[in-house]
Amino acid sequence: MGDYIGVIESLHGRKIVLGVSGGVAAYKAAALTRELRRLGADVHVALTEAGSRFVSALTFHALSGNRVWTSFWDGGAENGIPHIALVRGADAVLVAPASAGIIARLANGLAGDLLSALCLARDCPLFIAPAMNRQMWENPATQRNVATLRGDGAILLGPDEGGQACGETGPGRMLEPEALCEALLAFFTPKRLAGRKVVMTAGPTFEAIDPVRGITNSSSGKMGYAIAAACVRSGAEVVLVSGPTVLPAPVGVRRVEAASALRMRDEVLAALPGADVFIAVAAVADYRPAETAWHKLKKSGAPMQLELVPNPDILAEVAARPDAPFCVGFAAESQDLDTYAEGKRRAKRLPMLVGNLLVDGLCGDDNTVVIYDDEGRHPLPRAPKTFIARQIVEHLACLLPAG
Ligand code: PMT
Repeated sequence: MGDYIGVIESLHGRKIVLGVSGGVAAYKAAALTRELRRLGADVHVALTEAGSRFVSALTFHALSGNRVWTSFWDGGAENGIPHIALVRGADAVLVAPASAGIIARLANGLAGDLLSALCLARDCPLFIAPAMNRQMWENPATQRNVATLRGDGAILLGPDEGGQACGETGPGRMLEPEALCEALLAFFTPKRLAGRKVVMTAGPTFEAIDPVRGITNSSSGKMGYAIAAACVRSGAEVVLVSGPTVLPAPVGVRRVEAASALRMRDEVLAALPGADVFIAVAAVADYRPAETAWHKLKKSGAPMQLELVPNPDILAEVAARPDAPFCVGFAAESQDLDTYAEGKRRAKRLPMLVGNLLVDGLCGDDNTVVIYDDEGRHPLPRAPKTFIARQIVEHLACLLPAG
């Protein structure tokens, strides 16, 4: 399988030059710096004079762990030329926030300040996250500049719409740091699942007893949603059939909501045509009430009998189809993980199953899993679910028959 742990799809070892221009959204660039570093990037901040009016160089120095550059005349650059030294060996330049002013300068190839000059001197992708008042964004001059930059190969991230610092509402808000990091991650992730369609389940199911009560399982949806995001970054088309969760749909994922097991099964079967992969992460309730009361059941004080009937096993049904996609199962166990997880894999004839011992698998942000396949067991060290998800996707991409 090769050793992919720790090197895939993060920004580990990537040199990112973060250009911060003047705008209220500069405060978000501080969180962005921290997030980029958390993902493993080596972050070098170039701060414009206007940017430094909003957030100080000291803040970016502390958060990036690197010296912050503000001017051509800053001493100590490797070759004495900061705008060349900064972009040498850079994997990307991200300008966030990008004010109308810096966008105009970049579109016209002006090089009167350090940030504009290093963008001209770069030999790597340029990402631009605009942030400005809606009127400034919609101004034909800005739109012309943006079109020019796109034509020159720059990648525009945003802007978002919504309430603005000036009190107006409209397009011009800078994307949140998480969305910007997601775009960089997607850019740098090898497209191992390009052209593939992935159908998935995630979250719990809710089996209604009456309009206000029901039976459910513990599942936050975090593991499944992280896998959906990792599949999209790897180039797949993803349909995520989700039980009730509070999580937002990952960027680029088509989410279909399905509260009960029966509904989840119907939605999976509807999404299945053309699917190359089916990943069943959902904690599906094994049983549902034989009947759902139309009205709220009244408390009588006497013991209550509830008849339960088994739910269909969605994964078993999909895996048994003659045209079955590559099926990945999950198993959450409280003991004997190897025995039970491998037993489930064999019983459902799955090429791959991910087992998690219930020490931290449910609802938390971290997980410890073992992947089972025909070659044996592959334990992964405890890690955030987002990271585990990337490794699971990498593993399945290795096993997936050629399309
Ligand atoms: O959502 P989180 O809080 O992040 O937690 C993630 C998780 C622990 C729920 C997840 O990682 C996990 O392990 N999900 C599977 C839970 C489980 O034990 O499933 P199971 O043993 O009941 O079922 C085995 C497999 O069959 C699973 O892939 C399941 O999705 C599937 N199944 C089960 C029953 C059913 N009726 N239909 C199914 O498709």
